[in-house]
Amino acid sequence: MNLSPFNALVATLLLPLFVSSAPTTTTIENTPAPRSNARSELPRLVIYFQTTHDDLGNPISMLPLIHEKHIALTHLIVCSLHINEDQDIRLNDYSPYDPHFYTLWNETVIMQRAGVKVTGMIGGADPGSFDTGTLDSTDDATFELYYAQLAQVIRTYDLQGMDLDVEQYMSQAGIERLVQRLNADFGEDFIITLAPVATALENSANLSGFNYTALAQASHLAASSTTGSATANKTTGAAAQGAEMIHFLNAQFYSGFGTMNSPTDFQNVVAAGWDPKFIVAGQLTSPLNGAGYTDASTLNETVVQLVAEYGIIGGIMGWEYFDSEPGGTDEPWEWAQEMTAILRPGDSLALTITDETATTLSTAWNHSVIMNGSESTATEQQHAAAARVDYFAMVNA
Ligand SMILES: *[C@@H]1O[C@H](CO)[C@@H](O)[C@H](O)[C@H]1NC(C)=O
Ligand SMILES: *[C@@H]1O[C@H](CO)[C@@H](O)[C@H](O)[C@H]1NC(C)=O
Ligand SMILES: *[C@@H]1O[C@H](CO)[C@@H](O)[C@H](O)[C@H]1NC(C)=O
Ligand SMILES: *[C@@H]1O[C@H](CO)[C@@H](O)[C@H](O)[C@H]1NC(C)=O
Ligand SMILES: *[C@@H]1O[C@H](CO)[C@@H](O)[C@H](O)[C@H]1NC(C)=O
Ligand SMILES: *[C@@H]1O[C@H](CO)[C@@H](O)[C@H](O)[C@H]1NC(C)=O
Ligand SMILES: *[C@@H]1O[C@H](CO)[C@@H](O)[C@H](O)[C@H]1NC(C)=O
Repeated sequence: MNLSPFNALVATLLLPLFVSSAPTTTTIENTPAPRSNARSELPRLVIYFQTTHDDLGNPISMLPLIHEKHIALTHLIVCSLHINEDQDIRLNDYSPYDPHFYTLWNETVIMQRAGVKVTGMIGGADPGSFDTGTLDSTDDATFELYYAQLAQVIRTYDLQGMDLDVEQYMSQAGIERLVQRLNADFGEDFIITLAPVATALENSANLSGFNYTALAQASHLAASSTTGSATANKTTGAAAQGAEMIHFLNAQFYSGFGTMNSPTDFQNVVAAGWDPKFIVAGQLTSPLNGAGYTDASTLNETVVQLVAEYGIIGGIMGWEYFDSEPGGTDEPWEWAQEMTAILRPGDSLALTITDETATTLSTAWNHSVIMNGSESTATEQQHAAAARVDYFAMVNA
Protein backbone atom coordinates (compact mmCIF):
# COMPACT_ATOMS: atom_id res chain seq x y z
CA MET A 1 0.00 0.00 0.00
CA ASN A 2 1.19 3.44 -0.74
CA LEU A 3 1.87 6.42 1.40
CA SER A 4 -0.59 9.18 0.80
CA PRO A 5 0.88 12.39 -0.54
CA PHE A 6 -0.81 14.27 2.30
CA ASN A 7 0.99 12.25 4.92
CA ALA A 8 4.27 13.12 3.33
CA LEU A 9 3.14 16.73 3.49
CA VAL A 10 2.02 16.75 7.09
CA ALA A 11 5.32 15.23 8.09
CA THR A 12 6.82 18.64 7.61
CA LEU A 13 4.26 20.53 9.67
CA LEU A 14 4.70 21.80 13.17
CA LEU A 15 2.66 20.46 16.04
CA PRO A 16 -0.91 21.71 16.28
CA LEU A 17 -1.41 24.76 18.43
CA PHE A 18 -4.24 23.22 20.37
CA VAL A 19 -2.21 20.79 22.44
CA SER A 20 -2.44 22.65 25.71
CA SER A 21 -5.55 24.72 25.16
CA ALA A 22 -8.34 22.15 25.15
CA PRO A 23 -11.36 23.49 27.02
CA THR A 24 -13.49 21.15 29.05
CA THR A 25 -16.25 19.60 27.04
CA THR A 26 -18.47 16.60 26.93
CA THR A 27 -16.46 13.69 25.69
CA ILE A 28 -17.63 10.69 23.79
CA GLU A 29 -17.01 7.83 26.17
CA ASN A 30 -14.59 5.33 24.81
CA THR A 31 -16.64 2.47 26.16
CA PRO A 32 -17.06 -0.81 24.32
CA ALA A 33 -19.65 -0.45 21.61
CA PRO A 34 -22.45 -2.97 21.23
CA ARG A 35 -20.76 -5.71 19.30
CA SER A 36 -23.62 -8.04 18.64
CA ASN A 37 -25.78 -7.25 15.72
CA ALA A 38 -27.79 -9.46 13.48
CA ARG A 39 -26.08 -8.31 10.31
CA SER A 40 -24.23 -10.99 8.48
CA GLU A 41 -20.57 -10.15 8.11
CA LEU A 42 -20.35 -11.74 4.67
CA PRO A 43 -19.61 -10.51 2.15
CA ARG A 44 -17.46 -7.91 3.90
CA LEU A 45 -16.99 -4.34 2.76
CA VAL A 46 -13.72 -3.11 4.23
CA ILE A 47 -12.18 0.35 3.85
CA TYR A 48 -8.80 1.61 4.97
CA PHE A 49 -8.88 5.10 6.45
CA GLN A 50 -5.37 6.49 6.25
CA THR A 51 -5.48 10.10 5.11
CA THR A 52 -7.06 11.90 8.04
CA HIS A 53 -6.65 15.52 6.89
CA ASP A 54 -7.07 17.40 3.63
CA ASP A 55 -4.34 19.55 2.10
CA LEU A 56 -5.43 22.59 4.13
CA GLY A 57 -5.03 20.59 7.32
CA ASN A 58 -8.74 20.16 7.97
CA PRO A 59 -9.87 16.80 9.33
CA ILE A 60 -11.65 14.47 6.91
CA SER A 61 -14.81 12.98 8.37
CA MET A 62 -15.52 9.26 7.98
CA LEU A 63 -19.15 9.66 9.05
CA PRO A 64 -20.51 9.93 5.48
CA LEU A 65 -19.81 6.18 5.36
CA ILE A 66 -22.74 5.75 7.73
CA HIS A 67 -24.62 8.99 7.09
CA GLU A 68 -24.95 8.71 3.33
CA LYS A 69 -27.48 6.18 2.11
CA HIS A 70 -26.98 2.75 0.56
CA ILE A 71 -23.68 1.94 2.25
CA ALA A 72 -23.21 -1.35 4.11
CA LEU A 73 -19.69 -0.97 5.43
CA THR A 74 -18.65 -3.86 7.68
CA HIS A 75 -15.08 -2.94 8.65
CA LEU A 76 -13.13 0.30 8.84
CA ILE A 77 -9.37 0.00 9.26
CA VAL A 78 -7.63 3.00 10.80
CA CYS A 79 -4.09 3.28 9.49
CA SER A 80 -1.19 3.38 9.29
CA LEU A 81 0.41 2.64 12.63
CA HIS A 82 4.20 2.47 12.53
CA ILE A 83 6.68 1.19 15.04
CA ASN A 84 10.29 2.27 14.74
CA GLU A 85 13.29 1.32 16.78
CA ASP A 86 13.97 3.68 19.69
CA GLN A 87 10.76 5.63 19.02
CA ASP A 88 7.18 5.69 20.18
CA ILE A 89 4.44 4.31 17.97
CA ARG A 90 3.09 6.69 15.32
CA LEU A 91 -0.13 6.97 13.41
CA ASN A 92 1.17 8.27 10.10
CA ASP A 93 3.19 11.31 11.12
CA TYR A 94 1.96 11.89 14.66
CA SER A 95 1.53 10.16 17.95
CA PRO A 96 -1.84 8.35 17.90
CA TYR A 97 -2.63 10.28 21.09
CA ASP A 98 -2.07 13.69 19.47
CA PRO A 99 -5.03 16.12 19.41
CA HIS A 100 -4.60 16.03 15.66
CA PHE A 101 -6.57 12.77 15.83
CA TYR A 102 -9.40 13.85 18.14
CA THR A 103 -11.83 13.86 15.22
CA LEU A 104 -10.66 10.44 14.06
CA TRP A 105 -11.08 8.78 17.45
CA ASN A 106 -14.34 10.57 18.29
CA GLU A 107 -15.76 9.37 14.98
CA THR A 108 -14.61 5.75 15.30
CA VAL A 109 -16.79 5.53 18.43
CA ILE A 110 -19.79 6.61 16.33
CA MET A 111 -18.87 4.10 13.62
CA GLN A 112 -18.79 1.28 16.19
CA ARG A 113 -22.18 2.31 17.54
CA ALA A 114 -23.55 2.03 13.98
CA GLY A 115 -22.29 -1.56 13.82
CA VAL A 116 -19.08 -1.03 11.84
CA LYS A 117 -16.14 -2.98 13.21
CA VAL A 118 -13.22 -0.61 13.66
CA THR A 119 -9.75 -2.10 13.60
CA GLY A 120 -6.26 -0.70 13.22
CA MET A 121 -3.52 -1.49 10.72
CA ILE A 122 0.21 -1.60 11.38
CA GLY A 123 2.84 -1.67 8.70
CA GLY A 124 2.38 -0.92 5.03
CA ALA A 125 4.92 0.46 2.62
CA ASP A 126 6.88 2.24 5.36
CA PRO A 127 9.45 -0.16 6.86
CA GLY A 128 10.32 -0.52 10.54
CA SER A 129 7.41 -2.16 12.34
CA PHE A 130 8.37 -5.77 11.62
CA ASP A 131 12.15 -5.42 11.77
CA THR A 132 14.50 -7.58 13.80
CA GLY A 133 15.00 -4.47 15.96
CA THR A 134 11.26 -4.20 16.72
CA LEU A 135 8.39 -6.72 16.44
CA ASP A 136 10.51 -9.38 14.71
CA SER A 137 13.20 -9.31 17.39
CA THR A 138 14.37 -12.64 18.73
CA ASP A 139 15.04 -10.83 21.99
CA ASP A 140 11.93 -11.11 24.17
CA ALA A 141 12.45 -7.81 25.97
CA THR A 142 12.70 -5.97 22.67
CA PHE A 143 9.54 -7.59 21.35
CA GLU A 144 7.71 -6.76 24.60
CA LEU A 145 8.78 -3.12 24.45
CA TYR A 146 7.28 -2.54 21.01
CA TYR A 147 4.34 -4.91 21.36
CA ALA A 148 3.29 -2.93 24.46
CA GLN A 149 3.11 0.24 22.35
CA LEU A 150 0.75 -1.47 19.93
CA ALA A 151 -1.37 -3.05 22.68
CA GLN A 152 -1.75 0.34 24.37
CA VAL A 153 -3.22 1.88 21.21
CA ILE A 154 -5.64 -1.04 20.87
CA ARG A 155 -6.82 -0.63 24.47
CA THR A 156 -6.99 3.16 24.43
CA TYR A 157 -9.19 3.35 21.35
CA ASP A 158 -11.04 0.08 21.85
CA LEU A 159 -9.93 -1.24 18.48
CA GLN A 160 -11.76 -4.45 17.61
CA GLY A 161 -8.92 -5.92 15.63
CA MET A 162 -5.54 -5.36 14.00
CA ASP A 163 -4.50 -5.74 10.39
CA LEU A 164 -0.88 -6.79 9.99
CA ASP A 165 0.27 -5.34 6.67
CA VAL A 166 3.69 -6.89 6.39
CA GLU A 167 5.34 -5.53 3.25
CA GLN A 168 8.94 -6.22 4.20
CA TYR A 169 10.62 -9.49 5.08
CA MET A 170 9.55 -10.93 8.44
CA SER A 171 10.41 -14.29 9.92
CA GLN A 172 7.88 -17.12 10.15
CA ALA A 173 8.43 -17.37 13.89
CA GLY A 174 8.03 -13.61 14.25
CA ILE A 175 4.65 -13.35 12.55
CA GLU A 176 3.38 -16.43 14.37
CA ARG A 177 4.39 -14.97 17.72
CA LEU A 178 2.65 -11.66 16.95
CA VAL A 179 -0.60 -13.30 15.84
CA GLN A 180 -0.63 -15.69 18.78
CA ARG A 181 0.12 -12.90 21.25
CA LEU A 182 -2.69 -10.66 19.96
CA ASN A 183 -5.07 -13.61 20.14
CA ALA A 184 -3.97 -14.48 23.66
CA ASP A 185 -4.26 -10.90 24.94
CA PHE A 186 -7.45 -9.78 23.18
CA GLY A 187 -9.42 -13.00 22.73
CA GLU A 188 -10.82 -14.95 19.85
CA ASP A 189 -13.31 -12.22 18.84
CA PHE A 190 -10.40 -9.87 18.20
CA ILE A 191 -10.25 -9.49 14.43
CA ILE A 192 -6.73 -10.30 13.33
CA THR A 193 -6.26 -9.87 9.61
CA LEU A 194 -3.27 -9.70 7.29
CA ALA A 195 -2.85 -7.92 3.98
CA PRO A 196 -0.74 -10.13 1.69
CA VAL A 197 -0.33 -9.39 -1.98
CA ALA A 198 -2.61 -11.88 -3.74
CA THR A 199 0.25 -13.74 -5.40
CA ALA A 200 1.74 -14.55 -1.99
CA LEU A 201 -1.27 -16.85 -1.45
CA GLU A 202 -0.38 -18.98 -4.43
CA ASN A 203 3.35 -19.49 -3.87
CA SER A 204 4.26 -16.66 -6.20
CA ALA A 205 5.66 -13.15 -5.68
CA ASN A 206 5.53 -12.02 -2.06
CA LEU A 207 6.65 -9.03 -0.02
CA SER A 208 6.61 -10.46 3.50
CA GLY A 209 8.85 -13.49 3.06
CA PHE A 210 6.98 -15.81 5.40
CA ASN A 211 4.59 -18.52 4.26
CA TYR A 212 0.91 -17.60 4.74
CA THR A 213 -0.23 -21.20 4.52
CA ALA A 214 2.14 -22.21 7.29
CA LEU A 215 1.01 -19.18 9.32
CA ALA A 216 -2.66 -20.13 8.91
CA GLN A 217 -1.83 -23.63 10.10
CA ALA A 218 0.10 -22.34 13.12
CA SER A 219 -2.74 -19.95 13.98
CA HIS A 220 -5.46 -22.55 14.04
CA LEU A 221 -6.83 -23.34 17.48
CA ALA A 222 -7.61 -26.97 18.09
CA ALA A 223 -11.24 -27.63 18.95
CA SER A 224 -10.04 -28.96 22.27
CA SER A 225 -6.67 -27.82 23.51
CA THR A 226 -6.29 -31.08 25.43
CA THR A 227 -6.06 -33.11 22.24
CA GLY A 228 -2.81 -31.37 21.46
CA SER A 229 -3.42 -31.85 17.76
CA ALA A 230 -4.07 -28.54 16.07
CA THR A 231 -5.65 -29.88 12.90
CA ALA A 232 -4.69 -27.23 10.44
CA ASN A 233 -7.45 -26.44 8.01
CA LYS A 234 -6.86 -23.30 6.07
CA THR A 235 -9.85 -24.07 3.87
CA THR A 236 -12.43 -23.41 6.56
CA GLY A 237 -11.54 -19.95 7.77
CA ALA A 238 -12.83 -18.18 10.83
CA ALA A 239 -16.43 -17.75 9.79
CA ALA A 240 -16.96 -21.46 9.37
CA GLN A 241 -14.83 -22.68 12.24
CA GLY A 242 -14.77 -19.94 14.87
CA ALA A 243 -11.40 -21.24 15.89
CA GLU A 244 -8.97 -19.37 13.73
CA MET A 245 -6.90 -16.56 15.18
CA ILE A 246 -6.82 -14.94 11.76
CA HIS A 247 -10.32 -13.88 10.73
CA PHE A 248 -9.71 -13.06 7.08
CA LEU A 249 -7.12 -11.76 4.61
CA ASN A 250 -7.25 -8.37 2.89
CA ALA A 251 -5.44 -9.71 -0.16
CA GLN A 252 -4.05 -7.02 -2.44
CA PHE A 253 -5.26 -7.66 -5.99
CA TYR A 254 -3.38 -4.69 -7.49
CA SER A 255 0.11 -3.27 -8.04
CA GLY A 256 0.90 -6.16 -10.37
CA PHE A 257 0.37 -8.80 -7.65
CA GLY A 258 -3.03 -9.85 -8.96
CA THR A 259 -6.08 -8.16 -10.43
CA MET A 260 -9.87 -8.35 -10.29
CA ASN A 261 -10.11 -7.38 -13.97
CA SER A 262 -11.10 -11.00 -14.40
CA PRO A 263 -11.83 -13.89 -12.00
CA THR A 264 -8.56 -15.68 -12.78
CA ASP A 265 -6.36 -14.47 -9.93
CA PHE A 266 -9.01 -14.97 -7.27
CA GLN A 267 -9.63 -18.45 -8.68
CA ASN A 268 -5.90 -19.18 -8.50
CA VAL A 269 -5.85 -18.25 -4.82
CA VAL A 270 -8.80 -20.57 -4.15
CA ALA A 271 -7.12 -23.30 -6.21
CA ALA A 272 -4.11 -22.97 -3.89
CA GLY A 273 -6.36 -24.07 -1.05
CA TRP A 274 -7.86 -20.91 0.44
CA ASP A 275 -11.53 -20.67 1.35
CA PRO A 276 -13.16 -17.98 -0.86
CA LYS A 277 -14.93 -16.66 2.28
CA PHE A 278 -11.53 -16.07 3.89
CA ILE A 279 -10.32 -13.87 1.02
CA VAL A 280 -11.35 -10.23 0.84
CA ALA A 281 -10.39 -8.90 -2.58
CA GLY A 282 -8.32 -5.77 -2.02
CA GLN A 283 -8.86 -3.00 -4.56
CA LEU A 284 -7.53 0.48 -5.16
CA THR A 285 -10.34 3.01 -4.72
CA SER A 286 -8.74 5.34 -7.25
CA PRO A 287 -6.11 5.14 -10.00
CA LEU A 288 -4.36 7.88 -8.01
CA ASN A 289 -3.63 5.38 -5.22
CA GLY A 290 -1.36 3.09 -7.22
CA ALA A 291 -1.17 0.86 -10.24
CA GLY A 292 -3.83 -1.68 -11.14
CA TYR A 293 -7.14 0.10 -10.55
CA THR A 294 -10.23 -1.82 -11.68
CA ASP A 295 -13.36 0.20 -12.44
CA ALA A 296 -16.61 -0.66 -10.69
CA SER A 297 -18.44 -2.22 -13.63
CA THR A 298 -15.53 -4.53 -14.47
CA LEU A 299 -15.22 -5.43 -10.81
CA ASN A 300 -18.94 -6.21 -10.73
CA GLU A 301 -18.57 -8.61 -13.64
CA THR A 302 -15.75 -10.41 -11.82
CA VAL A 303 -17.68 -10.60 -8.56
CA VAL A 304 -20.79 -11.90 -10.35
CA GLN A 305 -18.72 -14.72 -11.86
CA LEU A 306 -16.99 -15.57 -8.58
CA VAL A 307 -20.28 -15.62 -6.66
CA ALA A 308 -21.78 -17.87 -9.34
CA GLU A 309 -18.85 -20.23 -8.83
CA TYR A 310 -18.40 -20.13 -5.04
CA GLY A 311 -21.77 -18.96 -3.72
CA ILE A 312 -20.14 -16.30 -1.61
CA ILE A 313 -16.76 -14.56 -1.40
CA GLY A 314 -15.03 -12.89 1.53
CA GLY A 315 -15.76 -9.40 0.25
CA ILE A 316 -14.04 -6.34 -1.14
CA MET A 317 -11.51 -4.09 0.53
CA GLY A 318 -10.66 -0.55 -0.62
CA TRP A 319 -7.39 1.32 -0.30
CA GLU A 320 -8.08 4.06 0.72
CA TYR A 321 -11.02 6.30 1.70
CA PHE A 322 -10.19 9.97 1.16
CA ASP A 323 -10.00 10.16 -2.64
CA SER A 324 -12.15 7.20 -3.71
CA GLU A 325 -13.67 7.17 -7.15
CA PRO A 326 -16.01 8.20 -8.63
CA GLY A 327 -16.58 11.09 -6.21
CA GLY A 328 -12.94 11.85 -5.44
CA THR A 329 -12.03 13.97 -2.44
CA ASP A 330 -15.36 15.82 -2.58
CA GLU A 331 -17.52 12.70 -2.24
CA PRO A 332 -15.28 9.75 -1.41
CA TRP A 333 -18.16 7.70 0.03
CA GLU A 334 -19.57 7.04 -3.45
CA TRP A 335 -17.12 4.16 -3.93
CA ALA A 336 -18.65 2.45 -0.90
CA GLN A 337 -22.11 2.98 -2.40
CA GLU A 338 -20.99 1.28 -5.61
CA MET A 339 -19.41 -1.60 -3.72
CA THR A 340 -22.56 -2.03 -1.63
CA ALA A 341 -24.58 -2.28 -4.85
CA ILE A 342 -22.21 -5.01 -6.03
CA LEU A 343 -21.90 -6.94 -2.76
CA ARG A 344 -24.87 -6.27 -0.52
CA PRO A 345 -27.56 -4.48 -2.51
CA GLY A 346 -30.27 -2.98 -0.33
CA ASP A 347 -28.26 -3.18 2.88
CA SER A 348 -27.26 -0.04 4.77
CA LEU A 349 -26.27 1.38 8.12
CA ALA A 350 -28.06 3.82 10.38
CA LEU A 351 -26.41 6.76 12.07
CA THR A 352 -27.76 8.13 15.33
CA ILE A 353 -26.52 11.59 16.26
CA THR A 354 -27.91 13.74 19.04
CA ASP A 355 -27.39 17.45 19.47
CA GLU A 356 -24.97 16.75 22.30
CA THR A 357 -22.95 14.35 20.15
CA ALA A 358 -22.82 16.91 17.34
CA THR A 359 -21.42 19.48 19.77
CA THR A 360 -18.79 17.01 20.95
CA LEU A 361 -17.80 16.14 17.39
CA SER A 362 -17.66 19.78 16.38
CA THR A 363 -15.41 20.57 19.34
CA ALA A 364 -13.13 17.67 18.48
CA TRP A 365 -13.03 18.83 14.86
CA ASN A 366 -11.89 22.28 15.91
CA HIS A 367 -9.07 20.73 17.94
CA SER A 368 -8.00 18.45 15.11
CA VAL A 369 -7.33 21.13 12.53
CA ILE A 370 -3.63 21.26 11.80
CA MET A 371 -2.64 24.81 12.48
CA ASN A 372 0.32 25.70 10.39
CA GLY A 373 2.73 27.18 12.89
CA SER A 374 4.64 29.14 10.29
CA GLU A 375 1.56 30.85 9.00
CA SER A 376 -0.18 33.98 10.21
CA THR A 377 -3.91 34.47 10.72
CA ALA A 378 -4.32 34.13 6.98
CA THR A 379 -4.01 30.40 7.43
CA GLU A 380 -6.62 30.36 10.14
CA GLN A 381 -8.98 32.20 7.83
CA GLN A 382 -8.21 29.64 5.16
CA HIS A 383 -9.06 26.89 7.58
CA ALA A 384 -12.27 28.61 8.60
CA ALA A 385 -13.27 29.24 5.00
CA ALA A 386 -12.74 25.65 3.98
CA ALA A 387 -15.75 23.37 3.89
CA ARG A 388 -16.47 22.36 7.47
CA VAL A 389 -18.13 19.15 8.46
CA ASP A 390 -21.66 20.03 9.53
CA TYR A 391 -22.31 17.61 12.36
CA PHE A 392 -25.47 19.48 13.33
CA ALA A 393 -26.99 18.66 9.94
CA MET A 394 -26.60 14.99 10.89
CA VAL A 395 -28.64 15.28 14.12
CA ASN A 396 -31.52 12.82 13.91
CA ALA A 397 -32.23 11.76 17.49
C1 LIG B 1 2.08 25.66 5.79
O1 LIG B 1 2.87 26.82 5.54
C2 LIG B 1 3.82 26.67 4.49
C3 LIG B 1 4.65 27.93 4.44
O2 LIG B 1 3.84 29.06 4.22
C4 LIG B 1 3.06 26.38 3.20
O3 LIG B 1 3.98 26.19 2.15
C5 LIG B 1 2.23 25.12 3.39
O4 LIG B 1 1.45 24.89 2.22
C6 LIG B 1 1.31 25.25 4.58
N1 LIG B 1 0.65 23.99 4.79
C7 LIG B 1 -0.64 23.88 5.08
C8 LIG B 1 -1.14 22.49 5.31
O5 LIG B 1 -1.40 24.83 5.16
C1 LIG C 1 8.91 -15.11 -1.11
O1 LIG C 1 9.70 -14.61 -2.17
C2 LIG C 1 11.07 -14.96 -2.09
C3 LIG C 1 11.81 -14.35 -3.26
O2 LIG C 1 11.45 -13.03 -3.42
C4 LIG C 1 11.23 -16.44 -2.12
O3 LIG C 1 12.60 -16.78 -1.93
C5 LIG C 1 10.42 -17.09 -1.03
O4 LIG C 1 10.45 -18.49 -1.16
C6 LIG C 1 8.98 -16.63 -1.11
N1 LIG C 1 8.27 -17.16 0.05
C7 LIG C 1 7.14 -17.84 -0.06
C8 LIG C 1 6.55 -18.36 1.19
O5 LIG C 1 6.57 -18.03 -1.11
C1 LIG D 1 4.21 -23.12 2.60
O1 LIG D 1 3.80 -23.96 3.65
C2 LIG D 1 3.01 -25.03 3.21
C3 LIG D 1 2.48 -25.76 4.46
O2 LIG D 1 3.50 -25.95 5.35
C4 LIG D 1 3.81 -25.92 2.29
O3 LIG D 1 3.01 -26.98 1.84
C5 LIG D 1 4.29 -25.10 1.11
O4 LIG D 1 5.14 -25.86 0.31
C6 LIG D 1 5.04 -23.88 1.59
N1 LIG D 1 5.34 -23.01 0.47
C7 LIG D 1 6.57 -22.57 0.22
C8 LIG D 1 6.71 -21.69 -0.98
O5 LIG D 1 7.49 -22.82 0.95
C1 LIG E 1 -11.33 -28.71 6.17
O1 LIG E 1 -12.66 -28.19 6.23
C2 LIG E 1 -13.45 -28.61 5.12
C3 LIG E 1 -14.80 -27.88 5.21
O2 LIG E 1 -15.36 -28.03 6.48
C4 LIG E 1 -13.58 -30.13 5.16
O3 LIG E 1 -14.35 -30.56 4.04
C5 LIG E 1 -12.19 -30.75 5.08
O4 LIG E 1 -12.30 -32.13 5.20
C6 LIG E 1 -11.31 -30.20 6.20
N1 LIG E 1 -9.96 -30.69 6.01
C7 LIG E 1 -9.22 -31.17 7.04
C8 LIG E 1 -7.82 -31.59 6.68
O5 LIG E 1 -9.65 -31.27 8.17
C1 LIG F 1 -23.60 -6.53 -11.85
O1 LIG F 1 -23.75 -7.33 -13.00
C2 LIG F 1 -24.98 -8.04 -13.03
C3 LIG F 1 -24.93 -9.00 -14.22
O2 LIG F 1 -24.54 -8.31 -15.37
C4 LIG F 1 -26.12 -7.05 -13.12
O3 LIG F 1 -27.35 -7.75 -13.10
C5 LIG F 1 -26.06 -6.13 -11.91
O4 LIG F 1 -27.03 -5.13 -12.01
C6 LIG F 1 -24.69 -5.49 -11.83
N1 LIG F 1 -24.61 -4.73 -10.58
C7 LIG F 1 -24.06 -3.54 -10.51
C8 LIG F 1 -24.07 -2.88 -9.19
O5 LIG F 1 -23.57 -3.00 -11.48
C1 LIG G 1 -15.73 25.30 16.00
O1 LIG G 1 -15.16 26.41 15.33
C2 LIG G 1 -16.08 27.16 14.56
C3 LIG G 1 -15.30 28.20 13.76
O2 LIG G 1 -14.43 28.89 14.60
C4 LIG G 1 -17.13 27.78 15.49
O3 LIG G 1 -18.08 28.49 14.73
C5 LIG G 1 -17.83 26.65 16.24
O4 LIG G 1 -18.73 27.20 17.20
C6 LIG G 1 -16.81 25.76 16.94
N1 LIG G 1 -17.53 24.63 17.52
C7 LIG G 1 -17.55 24.38 18.82
C8 LIG G 1 -18.40 23.24 19.27
O5 LIG G 1 -16.91 25.05 19.62
C1 LIG H 1 -12.70 13.49 21.47
O1 LIG H 1 -12.27 14.83 21.37
C2 LIG H 1 -12.02 15.45 22.60
C3 LIG H 1 -11.64 16.91 22.32
O2 LIG H 1 -12.74 17.60 21.78
C4 LIG H 1 -10.89 14.72 23.31
O3 LIG H 1 -10.70 15.29 24.59
C5 LIG H 1 -11.26 13.27 23.47
O4 LIG H 1 -10.15 12.58 24.00
C6 LIG H 1 -11.60 12.67 22.13
N1 LIG H 1 -12.08 11.30 22.30
C7 LIG H 1 -11.36 10.25 21.95
C8 LIG H 1 -12.01 8.92 22.13
O5 LIG H 1 -10.24 10.36 21.50
